[in-house]
Amino acid sequence: MDQLRIRGGQRLRGRVRAAGAKNAALKMLAAGLLTRDELVLSNVPQLADISTMSRLLSAMGAKVRRHGDTVTVRSDGLTSTEASYDLVKTMRASIVVLGPLLARAGSARVSLPGGCAIGARPVDQHLKGLQALGAEIRIEHGYIVADLGQKRRLRGARIVTDLVTVTGTENLMMAATLAEGETVIENAAREPEVVDLAGCLNQMGARIRGAGTDRITVEGVESLHGAAHRVMPDRIETGSFLIAAAITGGEVVVEAAAPGTLDAVLDKLREAGADIQTGEDWIGLRMNGRPRAVDLRTAPYPAFPTDMQAQFMALGCVSEGVGTIVETIFENRFMHVLELQRLGADIRIDGNSAVVHGVEKLSGARVMATDLRASASLVIAGLVAEGETWVDRIYHLDRGYERMEQRLAQLGALIERFGAIRPSTA
Ligand code: EPU
Repeated sequence: MDQLRIRGGQRLRGRVRAAGAKNAALKMLAAGLLTRDELVLSNVPQLADISTMSRLLSAMGAKVRRHGDTVTVRSDGLTSTEASYDLVKTMRASIVVLGPLLARAGSARVSLPGGCAIGARPVDQHLKGLQALGAEIRIEHGYIVADLGQKRRLRGARIVTDLVTVTGTENLMMAATLAEGETVIENAAREPEVVDLAGCLNQMGARIRGAGTDRITVEGVESLHGAAHRVMPDRIETGSFLIAAAITGGEVVVEAAAPGTLDAVLDKLREAGADIQTGEDWIGLRMNGRPRAVDLRTAPYPAFPTDMQAQFMALGCVSEGVGTIVETIFENRFMHVLELQRLGADIRIDGNSAVVHGVEKLSGARVMATDLRASASLVIAGLVAEGETWVDRIYHLDRGYERMEQRLAQLGALIERFGAIRPSTA
């Protein structure tokens, strides 16, 4: 298992390009199941999760090819409609094949994802919505088994989700594109990735309105066709680079970014003392002096994203003052706290709140990544910890950040990847 060694204390300076958004690209790959034609996606990041989704689609008989940052999906000869436990357990986002498979092939057998490091994460809302569209669903041997019964197509319906769910909204939106009649999804997720997916689907011939609001309307069509779509920039990766710059007192410009998708994060960075400039597709951050502690609360978009909570906590660890972080989306998303404490952070957890007392200095130690965003927070903390920080289990990081260590190194960080055997001096 690879590890990262970080020697803290370098100010980050320079320019870095944001990669395409993992959480948009994954769903668009699944959308490739909705048509026999070719779907051409550009700006697709090179990530472990993207490879997993490609393998999942290939196992169903779809042809998935990558050339540089472009991935093409052609699903003219589907041979299976099954998503196996082995793949789904490594990536929960696999659940987004359920809607497209049902809509296109009329049946699907998708493993239930099971537990997860950041919370229970049930998929009941996906199933409830698909049932409203006419799917017949049962759970058998750990699998969701869904079909259309006697029906030829799914049927449009009005669906009100009990809570705001990103992949749930996306699954239902994709399924509804090929349903008979109109579907209205109320309480829909407003995340920019949902909007980008809707844009991609509309280019494929779908009729979706209202993406980006809490009511999405889908007028079903008989079939979708091929299209070419450029994946939006990854706002969480962008934000992670900005926080890395801020914690080191650095000056960094993130290019090819989407500033309009990061309002809540930029506001909090400004509150912490960062000087931020934005252009149409870039964000510049300069940090002078020690950051100030801020309070934040995660919530669905456009509020502060849960996917940035761990990284912001790392910043809070060395800020001046006391900040409270409330996590409202996932019940177990504080796994990074114990690891940050190994670096000398002063954090107390009470239920879904963490009180972070900023300390003057962190000190390097061996720490372990527990999930994707937790691993980013440990890397960020390592950038300012005195001495060496070794981050173990960075396969979590590789799921969602493209060559993170190389790009941080280009900005001046002293960071290196090592294979399984660590030098005995460490
Ligand atoms: N929930 C239910 N029932 C459902 C669906 C969700 O109770 O049927 C609950 C979840 O347990 C959670 C809350 O609703 O407490 C919100 O979950 P949501 O469904 O929105 O999360 P998701 O779609 O599984 C996506 C991202 C996550 C991101 C969340 C929240 C993808 C592939 N994943 O997950 O990204 O944290 O939305 O914004 O889009 C990451 O990239 O590191 C990551 C975890």
